[in-house]
Amino acid sequence: MAPDLLAERSAPPAQAEKSLLRFITCGSVDDGKSTLIGRLLYDSRQLLADQVAALEAESRTVGAQGGALDFALLVDGLSAEREQGITIDVAYRFFETEQRKFIVADTPGHEQYTRNMVTGASTADLAVILVDARKGVLTQTRRHAYLVGLLGVRQAVLAVNKMDLVGFDPAVFEAIRAAFAPFAAEVGLTEVQAIPLSGLAGDNVTAPSPRTPWYEGPALLPYLERVKAGRDPTALPFRFPVQWVNRPDDGFRGFAGQVASGRVQPGDRIRVPRSGQESTVARIVTYDGDLAQAVAGQSVTLTLSDEIDVSRGDMLALAASAPETADQLEATLIWMGEQPLAIGRSYWLKLGTKTVSAQARAITARVNVNTLEAHAAERLAMNEIGRAELVLDQPVAFDAYADNRATGGFILIDRLSNATVAAGLVRQALRRADNIHWQALDVDRAARSTLKGQSPAVLWFTGLSGAGKSTIANLVEKRLHGMGRHTYLLDGDNVRHGLNKDLGFSDADRAENIRRVAEVARLMADAGLIVLVSFISPFRAQRQAARARFEPGDFLEVFVDTPLEEAERRDSKGLYAKARAGEIRDFTGIDSPYEPPLAPEIHVPTLSLAPEAAVEQIVAELELRGKLRAPDRGLDYTI
Ligand code: ADX
Repeated sequence: MAPDLLAERSAPPAQAEKSLLRFITCGSVDDGKSTLIGRLLYDSRQLLADQVAALEAESRTVGAQGGALDFALLVDGLSAEREQGITIDVAYRFFETEQRKFIVADTPGHEQYTRNMVTGASTADLAVILVDARKGVLTQTRRHAYLVGLLGVRQAVLAVNKMDLVGFDPAVFEAIRAAFAPFAAEVGLTEVQAIPLSGLAGDNVTAPSPRTPWYEGPALLPYLERVKAGRDPTALPFRFPVQWVNRPDDGFRGFAGQVASGRVQPGDRIRVPRSGQESTVARIVTYDGDLAQAVAGQSVTLTLSDEIDVSRGDMLALAASAPETADQLEATLIWMGEQPLAIGRSYWLKLGTKTVSAQARAITARVNVNTLEAHAAERLAMNEIGRAELVLDQPVAFDAYADNRATGGFILIDRLSNATVAAGLVRQALRRADNIHWQALDVDRAARSTLKGQSPAVLWFTGLSGAGKSTIANLVEKRLHGMGRHTYLLDGDNVRHGLNKDLGFSDADRAENIRRVAEVARLMADAGLIVLVSFISPFRAQRQAARARFEPGDFLEVFVDTPLEEAERRDSKGLYAKARAGEIRDFTGIDSPYEPPLAPEIHVPTLSLAPEAAVEQIVAELELRGKLRAPDRGLDYTI
């Protein structure tokens, strides 16, 4: 059993004998979801006599069905929901028929509550997607289908509800089924059964309805009784995220946790992916005595035959099928935070029992859930879904979510508010961390800059095309050079001829352009140079990410502030005219935005300040920060 991706409270455990189907219901607020589930419980005789009595009484007093049984009352148990008319949490309900046991995750359809859907879907084998027959497939329907598909659900029931309100018209049903089918296939729902029903009247819920003689398929409950249960998590490779190290006395050292997938027994060779160390399972200890085997879902304590380094947050795996470790990941993010995902900002990433610090280096796509098209994006706002590249401060062990739902899902947590801001699904490692270690070198940045008699710095010139960045940067470099300083000027136009000649001007390409030049500037600063970077660098988040690559105080943002009208009037390269004529697309200031710095170290208003005066100002700032003399520390390595 995969642990829930988000729930603090986990779903009830599976029981052995009959097979268990976990399913999730999704629908918009008025689709009749609660009524349908209530009807399933009632018709499958899951209710005790006193529950039925209470239902009858409540139906008369607060029911919405004019005194007739209001099944929604069975399900809408939370008082806040009754007050607000929406469900506010994931509720897991257990019921059972002759054939099978069921756990249904009832999640609210309100758009704010993506979080609950993710929680419910991350352990579900099947999704019941409700559609109101009068409304058909809505954006909301597509969104639900897309989300459950992302979260690894492959089977769905398209429950076309309220058929009684459209006179059980087969044409209505068929149109909805046909509209949904191609979308479902694209989002990975490979087995979809559409069922015309009425939760309120009971048609096609537990038995075929005489009012839909034209429908030859199964009713809902019989269908749920015989569909495949999900993939068996005990058949996956063994994964054991260590929750804590249990060391009651000197003689005993055990690793406690829940088996996330697979199975293990004493004698198995295991590995700690983080360190590559191996040992053998000695015992599987539980409160009720030792076990001969532990399988997915069981909470146990493992002891090993060797004293190897294992701590909380480590994952244990079989040596023969150990997962990858990496410190750079590509992941799908389902964003839930009120603040959008910010590139370069640091979040906590929690995967299994491991928490590390993570930054998004780039958002590689944002998905339009209606068309399923992926576009480059600079932000990911609440309820948006996209892909991002994440950089972690240390390697973690994981699987791709597609391979293992238990070890491929994670959450991102805001470091200040502690709120969960995203659910993440690992797509792949971007760089394997195995065997790549940071090399500590003796001749370091301080040694190199001492030899040059200066301290490294980056002057990051940002502004519109034609603002005068290159002119001023060029003058500053000439001036520093004349003073005997070691410099290098990285100019956008020039770097785009070589290193970055594969990049255009889409948002994603600009982000990569800035990422690369920031890395190059960092290497140059490490070499002891004063680096001048002259790039439009229109997006704040990317300039912020560049800044984050440097020591505090080394990065000076120089805002070359020329109003658009003026840059366009000068039009030194004739590009504005072309952009206005539609010959150049995504041109900064015309049809692509420029976000001015909010607090640049140096502000150069070119309308009121001559280039020579700007040079004075910039050089003075470098003097003031001690960049034009050697660092205090001298040569301290021995040759
Ligand atoms: S950035 O936005 O990615 O930082 P960069 O500074 O590298 O841009 O390149 C900007 C230069 O490319 C401009 O000065 C201009 O000469 C040229 N250019 C060509 N097409 C565009 C465009 N669509 N938008 C902006 N600049 C462009």
